[in-house]
Amino acid sequence: MLKFKGGKDMKTTLSVIKADTGSVGGHNRPSEAMLDKAREVAAKAVKKGLLKDARVSFTGDDIAFLMSHTRGVDNSDIHKFAWDAFVETTKIAKKQGLYGAGQDLLKDAFSGNVRGMGPGSCEIEFEERAAEPFILFAADKCGPGMFNQPIFEAFADPYHNAGLLLAPDMKAGFTYNIMDVNYTEADRVITLRVPEDMYEINALLRDPNHYVIESVIENASGLKGAVVSTSRLHNIAGKYVGKDDPVAIVRTQKQFPSTGEILSPWAKAYYVLGDNRGSHHVAVMPVKQNTIISYFDGPTIVSAAGYCVHEGKFTELVDLFDQPFWDMVREKASLKTYEMRQQGFYGPAMAGMDELEYTGVVQILKGLDKKFTIRKSK
Ligand code: F6R
Ligand code: MG
Ligand code: MG
Repeated sequence: MLKFKGGKDMKTTLSVIKADTGSVGGHNRPSEAMLDKAREVAAKAVKKGLLKDARVSFTGDDIAFLMSHTRGVDNSDIHKFAWDAFVETTKIAKKQGLYGAGQDLLKDAFSGNVRGMGPGSCEIEFEERAAEPFILFAADKCGPGMFNQPIFEAFADPYHNAGLLLAPDMKAGFTYNIMDVNYTEADRVITLRVPEDMYEINALLRDPNHYVIESVIENASGLKGAVVSTSRLHNIAGKYVGKDDPVAIVRTQKQFPSTGEILSPWAKAYYVLGDNRGSHHVAVMPVKQNTIISYFDGPTIVSAAGYCVHEGKFTELVDLFDQPFWDMVREKASLKTYEMRQQGFYGPAMAGMDELEYTGVVQILKGLDKKFTIRKSK
């Protein structure tokens, strides 16, 4: 095992904490001043020794801190750092008169952990392998269930993870922790494995607004390979206050699917819920880090930043969707989104009643209810 200077065993924790704290334009991107502030506080936290390393990026209107440290998951100092940082970026957004300043800070005071307070987070702790490659995914204009299909397929489907056929150890499959995100009293989770529980897992994941992959573990080694932020802002605030815009960390290679296998399902440009007013289905577009939001307050975007982490320090990033292959996927995603948009609000274009994020339609129907008459049968 790798050791820190002084001989202590090293366990590295990766924490990603993200929030929308204000935007230039409508809900399009954070300002440069906000990002400068985020980088400044991150650099200070590294200097102070709270963090081993940190990176700041944005995806649409969300700022994400990627942090490495040795304090384990759910550490209140790390969470407080992120919360305070978002309070600072909010101050700047307010000063600049940006839209939606402080939007995702749903509570007044920090209380130990950002979960349930607005910002999204996912965290993973591990002993670093000899080389530790991973991908940070960050999405905008969608809920956490948008990761269900690509993360399930990347690990469990040999169409994407050729390792299931070609790498003997991987045949033992993977374990999925799946969360019922509609249950708000506490975490309601189920643990299922592939290949044994293939159909049961699919029966849950096909409803991404209700059941969300929280983490993935490799069966042969017991190593955790992926974590996804599962918070649903709607459930915290009790009303629409912006979409969740989830993040995920996926470790790659060796025991896990390769970096390219993990990226493979994204070439489909799935339809997901979350565009415009959180209420429309569009095709998710894989984009470079730091991409803005535009058409129809979207489209839904996802970025993928590849790194290695070594003794807690990040390498430079490889911006994995910044490669000519993905131009074709972006084109396809645009066309799929445009085609769906031709359908306006009919059928699958707009969310069903239970997922509509704005209450207008509900109010219209309520108003019409008393005007309905029951025809007497002849
Ligand atoms: C924001 C989003 C947008 C907004 C829309 C209206 O994540 O999806 O489509 O819902 O721009 O925003 P408000 O209600 O803030 O005027
Ligand atoms: Mg957002
Ligand atoms: Mg937003």
